[in-house]
Amino acid sequence: MDKKISKPNSGLKGQITIPSDKSISHRAVMFSCLANGTSVIKNFSKGQDPLSSLEICKKLGVIAEFKDDLYITSTGKLIPPTTDLCCGNSGTTMRLMAGILAGQNFNSILTGDESLSKRPMKRIITPLSLMGAKINSNNDKAPLEIYGQNLHGINYSSPIASAQVKSSILLAGLFADNKTTVTEPYLSRNHTELMLSYMGADITVNNLSTSVTRSELIPKTIEIPGDISSAAYFIAAALIVPNSEIILKNVGLNPTRTGLLDVLKKMGANIEILDKQTISNELTGDLRVKYSDLTGCTIEGDIIPRLIDEIPVLAVIATQTQGQTVIKDAQDLRNKESDRIKAVVTELKKLGADIEETPDGIIINGKTNLQGGVEIETYHDHRLAMSLYVAGLVCKKEILIKDFDWVNISMPEFDELFSYLLT
Ligand code: S3P
Repeated sequence: MDKKISKPNSGLKGQITIPSDKSISHRAVMFSCLANGTSVIKNFSKGQDPLSSLEICKKLGVIAEFKDDLYITSTGKLIPPTTDLCCGNSGTTMRLMAGILAGQNFNSILTGDESLSKRPMKRIITPLSLMGAKINSNNDKAPLEIYGQNLHGINYSSPIASAQVKSSILLAGLFADNKTTVTEPYLSRNHTELMLSYMGADITVNNLSTSVTRSELIPKTIEIPGDISSAAYFIAAALIVPNSEIILKNVGLNPTRTGLLDVLKKMGANIEILDKQTISNELTGDLRVKYSDLTGCTIEGDIIPRLIDEIPVLAVIATQTQGQTVIKDAQDLRNKESDRIKAVVTELKKLGADIEETPDGIIINGKTNLQGGVEIETYHDHRLAMSLYVAGLVCKKEILIKDFDWVNISMPEFDELFSYLLT
């Protein structure tokens, strides 16, 4: 489905509840499979990626029932699948499931769609192999044939700050003979650590190092907050469309995910946190966001993993910001669902932005009056589609976004929520 976007007559107004966090949804369903009993997952994501994780868990023998909430019943022991396990577009599904499956007493095959089959898997194959895993791949890419083995713990220094890599190793560590420790160069999102601890695993965190030993998980009720990575599109739109003022309810505010809020504050954004609480070990709150005069800044170093998924929409914001914004140390963006550096620079240039790619980031000069009046590609990437929608709201002429339905990967509610705020 293609989508036309044009400049609204007035700003965004009103209050919405942000849809469920994708990262936490994956973990909730996977970890519930490893617990003996029934876990209740409240506010499970409707995105296609977490649904890929759920379908795989069903193929591994758990019973899943949607009432108002999602009920997962498991013996805590997985059974051999009778078919390949399809991860669709989801890197989180493939990398975390590989960690779980490496230590089972059966074999399995993880497959992915065209985009996922091009993404690097060496980053998990190397440490899992050091633990004794046997994984055949297509030149370090999917499909992954996993031959279940007895695993032993390792002490691994990860060359990249990646929650998917860290989680894959920690999950394998739940099945390993002795302690497994992962150390990362900067702190990446810590949902795995928080949820494993909530479900009774023997896990300890010491700055950038996390250790786990063989553990059985306890079934729990897990309430999932809204996804700050989804909230990012509404925050961005309210900041750059004149006369906007919105309230976003139930936004996950885990500090390993709130780099965007820190950067926007530095740029001069008018964002207020209204109410904070902790649910199922995760911090959440409501945000009030108003149209703001923003100034560019440099974004680099340890903040990058805390806003990695928000960089495409941050580039859109930077086109509407006075002065220069420089994004550095973000080379791993080239390994996401698309090469997000190249993709966002190419498409924003088409709209009239003053933007250049660098090997590890983006330089944007603002403020530009985006012209629009062109067709835009989404590169089969949900975050590109959503970021470019926001850009379309400040273009002089209408734009047409091709294959807009990629938004369903993380937020099928996107269009409906924007329409509500724009009327
Ligand atoms: C995720 C971690 C991040 C992020 C992805 C989801 C997760 O990837 O980009 O969208 O749920 O662990 P990396 O860990 O590879 O940076």
